[in-house]
Amino acid sequence: MSQSFDEVYQRSIDDPEGFWGEIAQDITWVKPWDTVLDRSNPPHYRWFKGGQLNTCYNCVDRHVDEGRADQAALIYDSPVTDTIKTYSYRELRDEIAAFAGALADHGVTKGDRVIIYLPAIPQAVIAMLACARLGAVHSVVFGGFAANELAVRIDDCEPKVIVSTSCGIEVSKIIAYKPLLDEAIDLAKHTPDHCIILQRPQETCSLIEGRDVEWNDAAAAAEPHDCVPVEATDPLYILYTSGTTGEPKGVMRDNGGHAVALKWTMKNIYGVEPGEVYWAASDVGWVVGHSYIVYAPLLNGNTTIIYEGKPVGTPDAGAFWRVISEHNVEVLFTAPTAFRAIKKEDPNGSLIGDYDLSKFRTLYLAGERLDPDTLQWAEKNLGVPVIDHWWQTETGWSICSNCLGIEALPIKQGSPTKAVPGMNVAVVDDNCDAVKPGDIGALVIKLPLPPGTFPTLWNAEQRFIEAYLEEFPGYYKTADAGFIDEDGYVFVMSRTDDIINVAGHRLSTGAMEEVLSAHPDVAECAVIGVADDLKGQLPLGFLVLSAGVEREHGDIITEVVQMVREQIGPVAAFKTAAVVARLPKTRSGKILRGTMQKIADGEDYKMPATIEDATVLPEIEQALAAL
Ligand code: COA
Ligand code: AMP
Repeated sequence: MSQSFDEVYQRSIDDPEGFWGEIAQDITWVKPWDTVLDRSNPPHYRWFKGGQLNTCYNCVDRHVDEGRADQAALIYDSPVTDTIKTYSYRELRDEIAAFAGALADHGVTKGDRVIIYLPAIPQAVIAMLACARLGAVHSVVFGGFAANELAVRIDDCEPKVIVSTSCGIEVSKIIAYKPLLDEAIDLAKHTPDHCIILQRPQETCSLIEGRDVEWNDAAAAAEPHDCVPVEATDPLYILYTSGTTGEPKGVMRDNGGHAVALKWTMKNIYGVEPGEVYWAASDVGWVVGHSYIVYAPLLNGNTTIIYEGKPVGTPDAGAFWRVISEHNVEVLFTAPTAFRAIKKEDPNGSLIGDYDLSKFRTLYLAGERLDPDTLQWAEKNLGVPVIDHWWQTETGWSICSNCLGIEALPIKQGSPTKAVPGMNVAVVDDNCDAVKPGDIGALVIKLPLPPGTFPTLWNAEQRFIEAYLEEFPGYYKTADAGFIDEDGYVFVMSRTDDIINVAGHRLSTGAMEEVLSAHPDVAECAVIGVADDLKGQLPLGFLVLSAGVEREHGDIITEVVQMVREQIGPVAAFKTAAVVARLPKTRSGKILRGTMQKIADGEDYKMPATIEDATVLPEIEQALAAL
């Protein structure tokens, strides 16, 4: 008899070792683990210590060996290049084995880092899994970041090889990747031994003799490489995400717990059986892409789709429905912002009727708050359950969701439902005491975190402790605030740090402030996230100029906008700033960003008791009104 959600959840909390130990049997191990959960060094916990496996084997070779060789593993759908290409599990294995051989020929062995700087093309998946095959550690960098961000990541993880391409295509714009890569390598202190570059026909690039080699040449010259067994606790990848400073945090994922948890989520959270078609419309540069374009669907023997296009403009707001119908997609996962973009262009969803969506079963949304309008629009026009789920780069899979594969719970608008098995979520006050149901506080997860989350930050053990574990002893701090209602439904309200969410992309306003402050005419600045109908939030800058600066404000604003684009990247979407005489501050000198944000969003706000000079606020209102 199948168990209720509450029964499954309770078991995961009461007996995590028993719960995950059983689930781990679903993975093919080279050597079984000694301990399901090593609790010997709290607050550090390690899953499946002593076990050995290979993640690539479990994603690909295993399915070839077990009867899925001819099933589609990966479909590349690229409206921007007018390409659809399907790789069977056998073909995918062969491509990965060849590229793993190429990486090995260029010196990559177990434990070495490889940066992957590629758009949403199959080579990104192949390169990631080729690293996993060798036991090397990949770090994928999203294409919308500038050379400077890439350089920071090069210096932090010190890759032996970088895998990149000549160009990406953003709707109809060609984005030259290679000059950005060359600039990043120039900026970085660390130099990779080699770069393996895919030449795309839309725009080729020049290669540096001795350092660079073309992808196809490297793969053709290589012998296919076998899967290398690694420890369950060995790193699989590093994924950098925004922290509260310009220094990104390198979220580290290990092999064993990741494979166990992610495979389990496909059936239990998403209700997806092996063989079905699952599409995460995201980018491999984000955690959603790592977990749900690449690892989870392949671990589960699904067909996964990598889509090089946008929800609108490639060619129209029917793009998602075309992909769903053409490839018989059963479950789609994307960010609410994608649906807002579609809704804006096709408010009545009339393009949906042009496609056969009869196989389409469920829509999952995450990455930012799901606003009620978008939820209702999707439900009404698609006629399928729309599931909001909450997660973070750090956790690697969802913290809260309606687990359709266990038991569908009633949906409450505004809530990503309940904590999923393994995630012991609580709301606490500043003293780390649990608050009453319905009261807002810090959302935290009781340690130990379940498998598949992050055991540490790459090269930054102390920062890991300070950022996540110190403030609420015994808990992981999510840095989201919210409440849990009497039925156990979690509501995520806002971040407690400087992170903003722009089109589902996580960005640090602190990092943008660092860039603005470097402008010679800027004495002081603040960046806040203001509500935006399409992207959820957009960054907005306030600049106080140095005494004596008499240049045109418009010129200075144009320059800082360009600086953010060049130093963080176009993805930051920093396009607006205002020059003000003063910033509102507390008496102790802290900038009142929260109050500024409320003013910008047109919300009611209380005059902060600690404000140094209340007459500054009308000046901010005026500056905003003039934008
Ligand atoms: N390489 C290079 N540049 C990129 C890029 C990439 N991979 N991805 C985005 N950019 C650039 C864009 O071209 C744009 O540049 P511009 O300022 O010159 O126009 C800028 O970065 C912002 O891009 P984006 O955030 O994608 O905004 P958009 O206005 O082009 O599109 C949406 C808006 C909502 C359609 C788009 O963000 C989207 O499809 N989101 C889907 C959700 C998603 O993928 N979320 C990820 C987590 S699940
Ligand atoms: P990222 O690490 O880029 O996945 O961003 C994680 C952050 O996005 C979370 O800490 C939340 O602030 C926000 N987020 C993700 N999913 C949701 C959701 N379903 N509801 C509200 N906020 C979300």
